[in-house]
Amino acid sequence: MLTQDDLKRNVAQAAAEYALTCLSPDSVLGVGTGSTVDFFIDAIATHRDRFRAAVSSSERSTQRLRDHGITVVDLNEVQDMPLYVDGADEIDPGMSMMKGGGGALTREKIVASVARRFVCIVDESKLVETLGAFPLPVEVIPMAREAVARQLRQLGGEPRLRQGFITDNGCEILDVSGLRITAPAQLEARINDIPGVVCCGLFAISGADLALVSSQQGVRRIERPGAVIQDT
Ligand code: A5P
Repeated sequence: MLTQDDLKRNVAQAAAEYALTCLSPDSVLGVGTGSTVDFFIDAIATHRDRFRAAVSSSERSTQRLRDHGITVVDLNEVQDMPLYVDGADEIDPGMSMMKGGGGALTREKIVASVARRFVCIVDESKLVETLGAFPLPVEVIPMAREAVARQLRQLGGEPRLRQGFITDNGCEILDVSGLRITAPAQLEARINDIPGVVCCGLFAISGADLALVSSQQGVRRIERPGAVIQDT
């Protein structure tokens, strides 16, 4: 019986093998955040001569990348990124994701937006029919916390401040429970529009292109229906 860590390690290894098919010595790789990504960083580090550098979505991942001798560059220096690899807290059949359990959602969404393809790496416990059992993280400017919370309540959610947590951007996180998210892209746009919201943890307007899903039986691939993967 494989443990949760074994499942994460297996999917991370599969993602590293997949990444090598997309990378060249000039490439910059986008790297997400979380425990699954930690295993991915460890796996790709063996092949650090196969790509030029990484862009990181958090201080945590930056540290781990540098510890492995991988060059980390500023996103502002990067015009093209073939691939972004990250975990998720939930992913639905339409490849919409709930992210931000680790609090890095804003930088994750920014780095992902530059990449030509998003590869989501999860174990099968993260596959859901409908997003929302995992509380939705919403990063907020601190002075707007209560104003944003009132609007989130009007949307049917129950926001709770993530106590003692400040993001890499100096902001706070409201974790919103009680939402059953049947139209994730619409809800993402609606929450993005609330003044004071920096970012919400729904990745639905632009979801994953490919999911690698680890289970006791191995790692399987799920492609987003109609995904257009642009190659150079
Ligand atoms: C980090 O902010 C998150 O978006 C992570 O990608 C997500 O929480 C998955 O993390 P794990 O791989 O640790 O489950």
